[in-house]
Amino acid sequence: MSDGSSFYVTTPIFYVNDVPHIGHAYTEVAADVLARWHRQSGDDTWFLTGTDEHGQKILRTATANGMEPREWADRLVDSAWKPLLKTVDISNDDFIRTTDERHETAVTRFLQKLYDDGHVYAGEYEGYYCVGCEEYKQRDELDEPLSGEYQGQLVCKIHSRPVEILKEKNYFFRMSAFEGKLLDLYESQPDFVQPESVRNEIIQFVRQGLSDLSISRSSFDWGIKVPWDPTHVVYVWFDALLNYTTAVGYGTDQELFDRRWPAYHLVGKDIARFHAVIWPAMLMAAGVEVPHKVFGHGWLLVGGEKMSKSKLTGIAPSQITDTFGSDAFRYYFMRAISFGQDGSFSWEDLSARYQAELANGFGNLASRVIAMLQRYFDGEVPAAGDPGESDLHVQQTVAEATKDADAAMQRFAIHDALAAIWRVVDELNGYITEQEPWALAKDEGNRARLQTVLYTAAEGLRALAVLLSPVVPQATAKLWAALGASDALGELTAQPLRDAGRWGQLPAGIRVEALEALFPRIDQAAA
Ligand code: ME8
Ligand code: MG
Repeated sequence: MSDGSSFYVTTPIFYVNDVPHIGHAYTEVAADVLARWHRQSGDDTWFLTGTDEHGQKILRTATANGMEPREWADRLVDSAWKPLLKTVDISNDDFIRTTDERHETAVTRFLQKLYDDGHVYAGEYEGYYCVGCEEYKQRDELDEPLSGEYQGQLVCKIHSRPVEILKEKNYFFRMSAFEGKLLDLYESQPDFVQPESVRNEIIQFVRQGLSDLSISRSSFDWGIKVPWDPTHVVYVWFDALLNYTTAVGYGTDQELFDRRWPAYHLVGKDIARFHAVIWPAMLMAAGVEVPHKVFGHGWLLVGGEKMSKSKLTGIAPSQITDTFGSDAFRYYFMRAISFGQDGSFSWEDLSARYQAELANGFGNLASRVIAMLQRYFDGEVPAAGDPGESDLHVQQTVAEATKDADAAMQRFAIHDALAAIWRVVDELNGYITEQEPWALAKDEGNRARLQTVLYTAAEGLRALAVLLSPVVPQATAKLWAALGASDALGELTAQPLRDAGRWGQLPAGIRVEALEALFPRIDQAAA
């Protein structure tokens, strides 16, 4: 991934059966951080998100609310899913809905092509179906509770709700034909499914043997019509997966498609199988390149269980951002959880990290340095003299952190990137404690040394603003403005990230301005 290369990143398109919780915001933020990082590295970046609106689950929810499914979807998209993007500062380039005409047209073309090429046949299927998952289940994917509301019934292990027995004459995709090719793919491209735990699970699953996939439904009609048989609608997952291609010109704008595709897919591990098995098989059948990567991140847990809409354990993102702000939301989830692993959310942990890392660690550092520049140099960034060992150590830390953070971002190890960047925060705090600029300021004879120390601190902040801007865009924009950097260096988001560690970019002589607390003290009662 050199400068200028294509970086097309996606989130799942979310079901509009309910409003978003912090699990959905988590995926959005991770994708957003990666997109901002690449955009600011000069890569040809495109970030897609959207909503999944067809199928039985949405139809039933709409009906239960006395509405038509389209009307219901419109309402949820406008009142909940698009506003989520504002709540956590998402910089998506596009938003696709599976009810968009551009999507429906291209899905129809894709399916017709598979049919014409002999990958689809008519057959009959009977099996357990979980509407929550929108998926046929095998017996070993079901529980039989010994007590409670559903005692004696077969329930889906994910949704803890009874499955239904469906028997239908459907169209089938010959997915079994791709078993060998899929195993070759996982073998030859070990990066294709990540993290390793998800990759292993996928390989194991495919090795057990693949069946063909039922890709149409005739018992209801909320979906895209099967082009050669309008009494059937396309299976919701087959429809939904195609969003990643239909949004970037598949079937309508080949040039655009060639520019963007293949994608990097971020999904929760709950739906890794759809993305790492069904999806590449569909693409192989159509002769389209498979994605660069499917990354199945971990779950946010509540009381040890996956936070979910259907179990009513969802926390609304605004519950957090109203108190802590969207930067803190973004920072917290990216820092506290190793991307790829599960993580438990707790208010205590969030408060503690906010106070220690954002307010005291980064925010105070910025305010103190700016305040000292105002006090000792009348608000002007002084020129540095020849650097000594301690100053060189700061420079070296900044250069190495930049390199390490970029390498981590390329691996989607967002937490490692943040840890690398935080070495700069810690280094600068330690440097100021050691150098004691307030003591230097007492003696005119130390003026030259004071200049070097405060230039070093200001230039360190310049690098931090750039490195942290994909994660905490609001705070870093304020810092950038306070440093007076925009006049000298241009917009913060135009600063090339991979160049952030090059020392000496902040010119001496620019004027800083007062900086309000970047992460103000939170009233404990509110939190
Ligand atoms: O599955 N922790 O949509 P969905 C972390 N429409 N992430 C979570 C989470 C949690 N507790 N809960 C949800 C669908 N997510 C399909 C996708 S894509 C072609 C179709 C996030 O509304 C995570 O990204 O059920 C998960 O994969 C996704 O929401 C599922 O959203
Ligand atoms: Mg779900």
